[in-house]
Amino acid sequence: MVHLQSLNTIQSSLSIQSKRYKKLSFKPHTAKISSCLVSDVNPKPITATNSASVSLASKELMEAENNVMVGTYARAPVVLERGIGCKLYDVDGKEYLDMNAGIAVNALGHCDPGWVKAVVDQASTLTHVSNVYYSVPQVKLAQRLIECSFADRVFFSNSGTEANEAAIKFSRKYQRYAHPNSTNPPTEFISFFKGFHGRTAGSLALTSKQQYRAPFEPLMQGGGIFVEYGNVAEVAKLVKERSIAAVFVEPLQGEGGIHSATKEFLLGLRSVCDEAGALLVFDEVQCGLGRTGHLWTHEAYGVYPDIMTLAKPLAGGLPIGVALTTEKVSSAINPGDHGSTFAGSPMVCNAALTVLNKINTPTFLSDVAKKGNYLKELLANKMKGNAHVKEIRGRGLIVGIELDMPVAGLVDACRENGVLVLPAGEGDVVRLVPPLVISMEELEFGAEVISKCLEAL
Ligand SMILES: Cc1ncc(COP(=O)(O)O)c(C=O)c1O
Repeated sequence: MVHLQSLNTIQSSLSIQSKRYKKLSFKPHTAKISSCLVSDVNPKPITATNSASVSLASKELMEAENNVMVGTYARAPVVLERGIGCKLYDVDGKEYLDMNAGIAVNALGHCDPGWVKAVVDQASTLTHVSNVYYSVPQVKLAQRLIECSFADRVFFSNSGTEANEAAIKFSRKYQRYAHPNSTNPPTEFISFFKGFHGRTAGSLALTSKQQYRAPFEPLMQGGGIFVEYGNVAEVAKLVKERSIAAVFVEPLQGEGGIHSATKEFLLGLRSVCDEAGALLVFDEVQCGLGRTGHLWTHEAYGVYPDIMTLAKPLAGGLPIGVALTTEKVSSAINPGDHGSTFAGSPMVCNAALTVLNKINTPTFLSDVAKKGNYLKELLANKMKGNAHVKEIRGRGLIVGIELDMPVAGLVDACRENGVLVLPAGEGDVVRLVPPLVISMEELEFGAEVISKCLEAL
């Protein structure tokens, strides 16, 4: 609980330091609300009645939502109306610094003019055509992705989980192709504890968190062989004992609490897979496309996969997913093996081309790395001596602050005070994944609010 007296002190110190922001109004956090998709702390959907600081207009909307939506989300009590750059505004005109970016999606922030033009131009020319036909933006985007990655081929989908579903199917099909005389080709998958690969049946089978999986079991057969992140020896053992089609790994785990792989781990996986004929799949749905200051996180390690999945930031907020593959994998896939009605539409691909071209420059990427280091430095200085802070970690603009307690109260206090952040891990990590275009001043403001709210808790 944030005490009013401490908040008044925070408010006066912040309004002196952050003159370019409109006067902050720190409010005591009274509502007990689970703030995000990681809802270990309080999984009940919120209702308007349990939040004291919500306006009537917002309350009405929340009540209406509560009456019509399937209750899959434990939403924060904010009705967002518009965004510009790294700022979001709710229906009451309150401003928020967006350090979530739609969970690592809005890489260029909100309403980037180049992105808006790409969407509007393409929407007024050709929005959607079936994959029965060719379209120019789809082919151009595929060419650009291949030019700037290890891949020879791409398959478009509409989300991260679908990109992983494609990778699952391609892995099994590849193994059938690679073992033409076998009646029993490898079909199983290894993935890692604290990993997250999505909510659809196949991807969920590769996602370790028990609370996501348990209500829906039995999941995909062959999924669910989980290993400690970093334990190559165990993977090597399983690959010998089992019939492994592919190993799925995030080079940096996002949802699991911002854990970076080591070079030895990824190199070890590469050689174990090569030796066994298993495929190595890097899930860069959250950490890919500039987020870590590298275009692809695996470039930092110099280790390359057979398949990489992408999604969140690629179309700047429009739904997209991609499975990028080598020629070796792609040669196993035939017409009809997989497909999607919406995937690779001209409008989404045109938006994605704009995002990819803007991010994929040495200056943009090195700026992300610099900003990430600055953010970690700011947090370390401001939180120095706070006994609740166990670790501040991450790479580029994906940063985690691990506490020795649940972070839900801190997340809620930050939001009340105009900064949107997310929980991760076991609800004990604050996850910061702001738009990649965030400014140094905005980082200073965000770090100040987070640290002051933590002090006041
Ligand atoms: C690493 C990773 N893979 C897959 C997914 C699933 O993506 P989507 O929610 O777009 O299906 C996520 C989502 O958070 C993710 O972080």
